[in-house]
Amino acid sequence: MKDVREYLEANKDRFINELVELLRIPSVSADSAYKKDTMAAADAVRNMLEKAGADKTEICPTAGYPVVYGEKIINPSLPTILVYGHYDVQPADPIELWDSPPFEPVIKDGKIYARGAADDKGQMYMHVKALELMVNTNQLPCNVKFIIEGEEEVGSVNLNTFIKENKERLKADVILISDTSMLSMEHPSITTGLKGLSYLEVEVTGPNRDLHSGVYGGAVANPINILSKMIASLTDENNHITIPGFYNNVAEVSSEERAEMAKTPFDLDEYKDHLKINEVHGEKGFSTIERTSIRPTLDVNGIWGGYIGEGAKTVLPSKAHAKISMRLVPNQSSEEITELFKNHFESIAPDSVKVVVKPHHGGEPYVTPIDIPAYQAAAQAIETTFGKASIPVRAGGSIPIVALFEKELGLKSILLGFGLNSDAIHSPNEHYGIFNFLKGIETIPYFFENFSKLKD
Ligand code: BES
Ligand code: MN
Ligand code: MN
Repeated sequence: MKDVREYLEANKDRFINELVELLRIPSVSADSAYKKDTMAAADAVRNMLEKAGADKTEICPTAGYPVVYGEKIINPSLPTILVYGHYDVQPADPIELWDSPPFEPVIKDGKIYARGAADDKGQMYMHVKALELMVNTNQLPCNVKFIIEGEEEVGSVNLNTFIKENKERLKADVILISDTSMLSMEHPSITTGLKGLSYLEVEVTGPNRDLHSGVYGGAVANPINILSKMIASLTDENNHITIPGFYNNVAEVSSEERAEMAKTPFDLDEYKDHLKINEVHGEKGFSTIERTSIRPTLDVNGIWGGYIGEGAKTVLPSKAHAKISMRLVPNQSSEEITELFKNHFESIAPDSVKVVVKPHHGGEPYVTPIDIPAYQAAAQAIETTFGKASIPVRAGGSIPIVALFEKELGLKSILLGFGLNSDAIHSPNEHYGIFNFLKGIETIPYFFENFSKLKD
């Protein structure tokens, strides 16, 4: 590859400005108040792909937000790389904790602050600019297709259907995704796995109406008290999950592999300091890296009920609610785990309450083998642009569509993310380093080149 750095240097200010414009669009897929904006983001992405040199682009309607498709086929006999990303973002709440408005991007200390800066607009846009770079410097070495969806943050339900109905159009040799993070810029890493997900909502009902907590308290089950106890019982003193059968299919990781993982550069004190916690917490017998990568977990994501307004109201509420997620590892099945949870949760409910478990979206875990040419192509690309070898690391996050790509299209995904865990994705003050953004644009063309060569 030639002229990569020169092209970047000459165009980086424009690249950053274009990303800022994209970040101004509040494409929050979860909130229907942003429907127009989310549609507008799809249009903007299509436009950007066209300008970058894609010779076919299309807004593909779905039952939800559209999928943006783009392609540049230079020679059907050459390999094809399918790039996936998402233009939707998480809600910005709690908005009062942002130092600057989430959809008015601010550049500070070399970072762009905005909702979606790292997840995933900033990372997705690196691919659009890498295409522009390769086209304008006459060195696109293979065919490329893009699918940029607008419902990743709400479970990719309609992308599922789109993939099943567009298998011919999506034919490719590998999938390339930047929607994950690296250990650090000093320790570049490639994500080799994603967790699966089982997500449910539970409702506990006691009496048919809110009661006076003095008149009835102590004599009638309080659904919040009960729900708290039920949730507390889901993990034991070793922080092991107590749902019967939960660990049955968990793939054991060999001691050799665990020894290899233990060499991952990771500073526990820095980690604690960054989060302002005195101690970490998790399943006994496993390190922090292992807990977030090879072990399944259970978390309450939200819990509510009763009176939460100003002052004190003495009330024994009729209902209590919680949203609970379980992150899954290879060979656990999201459907099976959801079923196990539901049966168990219903079985531990005392007769004094009624429990309803409502499953939400789910997804299957994924692992990228490191001995395939596509992984080598990514590792070499990192080595070229970072000047050091990359480290394979499994992530704790989920991108449910990745397992589906493998099932429906028979394609492996390369998770070449350039974010950092400290980017505050899904949190207030989300940001993306400009260095990371530019490094991504610089690295992607080398992946294209390496993959095209290795495929021959
Ligand atoms: N990009 C993230 C997933 C991610 C983040 C993977 C960091 C690895 C490292 C993605 O947008 C996301 O947030 N996924 C959701 C799941 C989805 C079904 C809502 C998640 O992991 O919570
Ligand atoms: Mn994402
Ligand atoms: Mn996300």
